[in-house]
This record gives sequence, C-alpha cells and structure tokens, in this order.
Amino acid sequence: MTHADSDSVSSMLADVDTAVHVTREDLAAFLSRDDYIILIAEDDRIAGYLCFMLIPPEAELLDIAVDRSFRRKGVARTLLNEGIRLLRTRGITKLFLEVAVTNTAARTFYGTHDFTENGLRKNYYGNTIDAVLMSRII
Ligand SMILES: CC(C)(COP(=O)(O)OP(=O)(O)OC[C@H]1O[C@@H](n2cnc3c(N)ncnc32)[C@H](O)[C@@H]1OP(=O)(O)O)[C@@H](O)C(=O)NCCC(=O)NCCS
Repeated sequence: MTHADSDSVSSMLADVDTAVHVTREDLAAFLSRDDYIILIAEDDRIAGYLCFMLIPPEAELLDIAVDRSFRRKGVARTLLNEGIRLLRTRGITKLFLEVAVTNTAARTFYGTHDFTENGLRKNYYGNTIDAVLMSRII
C-alpha cells in the first residue's frame, strides 16, 4: 500500500465490520512508520487490507479486512500468506493478535491458519466485548 491508496482503502474499511475504525489519517500515520507493514489486495478496486506491527522477534496482526463482495474467495488467505512470507524475511518468528469473542468468521479464519487461542482480555472492545488472544509460530 502507498499513500495514493489511502482514500480507496479507507472507503473500503468504512464498510467493513471491524472492531476498530481506521480512518484515512490513521492510514497515513501507519504508512509513515518503519515498524508497520501494510498490504492490500486489488482487483478493479481494493479487495483486502492487512496491517502488521513489528515488535521483533514478534509481530502483531493489527487488522485484516476484506470487502464484502470479495469474501470467501481466498483474499484474506493470500494476504496472510504473503504477509507471513515478508515477516520471515524480517526475522519475525511469532505472530499474535486479538479478535472479538463474537467474531466467528475471523476466529474460524485464524483457526484454519494454525493460530491457537491462548488467552482472553475481558471487556477489550468498547468496554463490553471480550477479546480472544491468538498466536502462532511462523
Ligand atoms: C475474516 C475475513 C478477513 C476473512 O476474509 P476472506 O477473504 O473472506 O477469507 P478467505 O476467503 O481467505 O477464507 C479462508 C478460510 O477462512 C475460513 N473463513 C473465512 N470466512 C469465514 C466465515 N465467514 N465463516 C467461517 N469460516 C470462514 C474458511 O475456512 C475459509 O476457507 P473456505 O472458504 O475454503 O471454507 C473477512 O470475513 C472480514 O473482512 N471480516 C470483517 C473484518 C474482520 O472481522 N477482521 C478481523 C479483525 S481481528
């Protein structure tokens, strides 16, 4: 992703039911950071978005989101696999994330990609919804 993609990515994200809303200004700040990796998937428009924060030798998957009309076509799988390939080139050996306990789709997606659930943060989202902690060795 580059700064030129910010408008189209923020528009796509505004229509996705992620737990944390990412604005155009957030994206500009992320892109200016050396410790963030952001990948997008494109067809005729933005299909998917993935953001990692590097904390060597670990990385946190901060967000992954796919446009509703592109779901269940392997977009998230492709982004995650490409992201893991890049993380390995940066010496990252472990990936972790938080996901809302209510987000069945994402929890299933991570489960099919070798993440295991290993903790719970109470009332993490909006002081009401718990987050499940997941991680995997890469
Ligand atoms: C979770 C999300 C990123 C998955 O994106 P996607 O491109 O549709 O996922 P893929 O097509 O790569 O799915 C790969 C596998 O994950 C699992 N999976 C994905 N979505 C699923 C769903 N809604 N229900 C059950 N399993 C699902 C399946 O095993 C799927 O393989 P299959 O389609 O062959 O059965 C997408 O649903 C999304 O953007 N959700 C909203 C944002 C979000 O909650 N992000 C997570 C923040 S922590």
